[in-house]
Amino acid sequence: MQSPEQLPPPKQGRLLAQENSAVDSQNVKQQLRRVLEAASKPEDPVLNSHLRDHPHVSAEGPRGTMAALGITLALLVWMVTLLLISIWKQIHSSWNLPPGPFPLPIVGNVLQVDLKDIPKSFARLAERFGPVFTLYLGTRRVVVLHGYKAVKEVLLNRKNEFSGRGKIPAFQMYEDKGIIFNNGPTWKDIRRFSLTTLRDYGMGKQGNEERIQREAHFLLEELRKTRGQPFDPTFLVGRAPCNVIADILFNRRFNYDDKKCLRLMSMFNENFYLLSTPWLQLYNNFSGYLRYLPGSHRKVLANVSEIKAYTLEMAKEHLQSLDPSCPRDFTDCLLMEMEKHSGESGYTLENVAVTLADLFFAGTETTSTTLRYGLLILMKYPEIEEKLHKEIDRVIGPSRIPAVKDRLEMPYMDAVVHEIQRFIDLIPSNLPHEATQDTMLQGYVIPKGTVVIPTLDSLLYDDQEFSDPGQFKPEHFLDGNGKFKYSDYFKPFSAGKRVCVGEGLARMELFLLLSAILQHFNLKSLVDPRDIDLRPIAIGFGRIPPHYKLCVIPRS
Ligand code: HEM
Repeated sequence: MQSPEQLPPPKQGRLLAQENSAVDSQNVKQQLRRVLEAASKPEDPVLNSHLRDHPHVSAEGPRGTMAALGITLALLVWMVTLLLISIWKQIHSSWNLPPGPFPLPIVGNVLQVDLKDIPKSFARLAERFGPVFTLYLGTRRVVVLHGYKAVKEVLLNRKNEFSGRGKIPAFQMYEDKGIIFNNGPTWKDIRRFSLTTLRDYGMGKQGNEERIQREAHFLLEELRKTRGQPFDPTFLVGRAPCNVIADILFNRRFNYDDKKCLRLMSMFNENFYLLSTPWLQLYNNFSGYLRYLPGSHRKVLANVSEIKAYTLEMAKEHLQSLDPSCPRDFTDCLLMEMEKHSGESGYTLENVAVTLADLFFAGTETTSTTLRYGLLILMKYPEIEEKLHKEIDRVIGPSRIPAVKDRLEMPYMDAVVHEIQRFIDLIPSNLPHEATQDTMLQGYVIPKGTVVIPTLDSLLYDDQEFSDPGQFKPEHFLDGNGKFKYSDYFKPFSAGKRVCVGEGLARMELFLLLSAILQHFNLKSLVDPRDIDLRPIAIGFGRIPPHYKLCVIPRS
């Protein structure tokens, strides 16, 4: 049997086709003849001078050959590129990695993410590719997890396979030392030791509750000194968490006018901001190319170095006066622990310094920013502030300093603190994790060394769990009877093997310090509360609140 292509065309159509092709070939022959005749005629001086003067048309042989060569070369390059892309695509798909947008050589998918708001780009890509997808940020392969199920699987169910730490080039100096940026063999030991020591220092009399209460007195005194005048809360309110962690680490507190403390705090603050800007997102993915260029990454690196120089100095001072029978603080305990491991590689004074720097920076800037953002939110919603005043008056009264036990009787304050942390979404994309071995996840291969990002904003802003995630509503954490309502989606401190070491301390600070401030003061905004803009000024490593000033007016 003949295939449809082999069948002859219908008769009439066939004749027409033959006629048409005969006419066409006649026309072509005539045109060719005309061209040849023209070419054999004596030169037309007018036409030729026009051709000579025209920049793009040349009658000269060698130039024509060059043009032909150029076109051939361009075609060749185009074909080779297509070939390479197709080979790259085949290799890529044969790995069975999670799906994702097609990466370009060198830049990867960086053109597909908004450097001003990478978490938003992740959410957009998750809509297209699903809750587990692959991206190339530069040449770095990154697997992003979006949503409760995927994030929980990585952080809690498969915690060993994903407990590594992805590189953050801005903190290269701290790499494989301390806790946060440590992806080396000492991480487990130092983390375990730090957790137990922080817990020991946090418990009992002279524990964290008393430490925070003591600092709350100094903070209230400093707030009173403003006498109702406008002030920037950044370093004034931030001093309280800074002093709490300084007391634990170094057995010292700084006066509110201490220059050294102000210098350290401003470096913490500057780094948290710069790390959230587009340039640092670029730097952290292309540091190999960008490190030699000028730019704000140099400021971050200089601050990181100066902070470590300070903690190294503190470690050395402690070492000189150390009495092993009577450790004074976390630093003494850490030095003694390092001594036990002396001779083992990695247990160095540098490692002590980086551990202290980690705890000092993380212990100050996170809580300080949360308090500052929280006060701005409360100024925007005076009706919420009013409810808090009432609850404080009912449970604590006007003079006794707030205590941890009050939390059980203060569901509204508890809900507000949770809602502040949910709404501000301080570290939206978490810190990068890394796969410690080749592993499978939801049917996909995740090769060892792949950077894994278990996003936290995808839980905090889940619209099934929180009815109106874009709105600040303490009701997200309250049941119908006004009782505190727990949510398993509340994970601003992450979860699993790398969960924040300071979670307990931070939560205690937020509750006690906010309660103490509102017990004694009314917050007063310098602008109409409705005009307060809560949108962050930078989104990257963190979400940075806008700069603002406020007044605090004594309540009695
Ligand atoms: C509101 C306050 C805080 C928030 C929102 C917060 C959040 C986080 C997050 C999201 C991580 C990354 C977890 C991961 O990789 O999965 C982290 C790690 C860490 N945080 Fe916090 N944190 C806060 C306060 C603190 C405080 C007060 C300290 C110190 C006392 C601290 C010390 C650390 C350390 C050492 C790590 C690294 C853990 C590791 O890599 O093993 N944080 N934090």
